[in-house]
Amino acid sequence: MTQREQHWENIYQSRDHREVGWYQVSPEISLRLLDQVGISPEQSVIEIGCGASGLVDRLIERGFRKITLVDLSQKALSIVRDRLGAHGDIPDYRADDVTRLVLGQSFDIWHDRAVFHFLTDEEDQQKYVAVLKQHLAPEGHAIIGTFSLNGPKSCSGLPVERYDKEKMQGVLGEDLVVLDSLTDVHVTPAGGEQEYNYFIISWRAGAKLRHYP
Ligand SMILES: C[S@@+](CC[C@H](N)C(=O)[O-])C[C@H]1O[C@@H](n2cnc3c(N)ncnc32)[C@H](O)[C@@H]1O
Repeated sequence: MTQREQHWENIYQSRDHREVGWYQVSPEISLRLLDQVGISPEQSVIEIGCGASGLVDRLIERGFRKITLVDLSQKALSIVRDRLGAHGDIPDYRADDVTRLVLGQSFDIWHDRAVFHFLTDEEDQQKYVAVLKQHLAPEGHAIIGTFSLNGPKSCSGLPVERYDKEKMQGVLGEDLVVLDSLTDVHVTPAGGEQEYNYFIISWRAGAKLRHYP
């Protein structure tokens, strides 16, 4: 087990997942942004670092069936599977590190809330961008939520990299473009406030596509 895996597995093993700072029953901003990019239930969604939050539940309620959940923590994935009950077999569960993800297929939607910002090392950030490009369909959109420049400097005992639109564009490079961004204040289960920026990302017109067929 890597240190990163150990850290997150330990969080979900030792804490009530409904009390961690990032927990959301219903991710309203993510759903709003998914509506903004115009996704429909026949499309495929990959949720990076899903944790035990409720986006997958809401997607299943809306009729989505092509859902892949990725998280470093086996425990987080099993919490989700158990909670989904009769729908537990719908998602494809992958216990893996996003920076080394190889699924061999591309997705219409890549969703990541509060995962990319833990990659504080430039090499890891570029590995993430390469993996994103491999898994993003030609007409696909990525929605990435990070702490904003006014957000916390750390989360769950780990340092984070905070982003505004320009900084995110700089990390993504030339092939991907930040189409839009939105600032939101998340109220943690303990009542604290955390400012996030969400970015809607697509391939830039004329970009050299690198996705799986
Ligand atoms: C702050 S939580 C956010 C969870 C969820 N996205 C949400 O918004 O509630 C970060 C999640 O990403 C997972 N994670 C952290 N680093 C990861 C990585 N490199 N690859 C895959 N998952 C990762 C953690 O296990 C944790 O569940």
